[in-house]
Amino acid sequence: MNDDPLIRCHDLTKVYRKGRIEVTPLANLTLEVPRGEFLGLMGPSGSGKTTLLNLISGIDRPTSGTLWVGDHEISNMSRGQLTKWRSTECGYIFQLYHLVPILSAYENVELPLLLQKRLSRKARRIKVEAALELVGLADRSDHRPSELSGGQEQRVAIARALVADPALLVADEPTGDLDRESANQILKLLSELAGVHQKTIVMVTHDARAAEAADRTLHLEKGQLVESGGGGVA
Ligand SMILES: Nc1ncnc2c1ncn2[C@@H]1O[C@H](COP(=O)(O)OP(=O)(O)O)[C@@H](O)[C@H]1O
Ligand SMILES: [Mg+2]
Repeated sequence: MNDDPLIRCHDLTKVYRKGRIEVTPLANLTLEVPRGEFLGLMGPSGSGKTTLLNLISGIDRPTSGTLWVGDHEISNMSRGQLTKWRSTECGYIFQLYHLVPILSAYENVELPLLLQKRLSRKARRIKVEAALELVGLADRSDHRPSELSGGQEQRVAIARALVADPALLVADEPTGDLDRESANQILKLLSELAGVHQKTIVMVTHDARAAEAADRTLHLEKGQLVESGGGGVA
């Protein structure tokens, strides 16, 4: 068992420049996230939450500072290396699911595995079926997104994020478009993925009740983190 934190950000800064305009959504941010932690991230709109998720997941690159995820210094990787790293090491869950409408639940979940050229069709099937089973949708694998409820679509999206067995899941307001009951199911699932399956989860949310499901909640304000104690908001 490796006791090092999965995520280690040090002095992380992101500056966006367009012409003479400069925006600094993150300034010298330092953060460690232990393996298996379900971390909630709150903060006003524009406070840099999505920017931070995009850095942690290798979608975007920091302007300065260091960022390690496990044994990988992702702040040092090229965009090509990041794309490859992300395909096995990080799953991304979006507010509006981002499923491909013409594909079945099964085919949506299979998509990330198609990037791994070595996997046979049968090996992919075993992984896709296990991921759908884990989110409780084994019986809906032939259904397209339009034939599923919002909560079910989000569970398919979680299966897709999980299927390559990454250590890290990031979620940007995963319950933001759901009714209370569906939201609670998604939060319970994320808690289990952290607690039982040792996934490290970083979840952005606007919802104080969603944040209560997390092991710890941090607040972003003007590019800086403010801690609010364990389990929920102060
Ligand atoms: N690609 C970009 N180019 C320029 N500015 C950006 C870009 N992405 C985000 N920003 C700016 O960075 C700040 C933080 O954005 P974001 O991380 O999306 O905030 P949040 O998710 O907390 O609402 C905002 O001021 C936003 O306008
Ligand atoms: Mg955002």
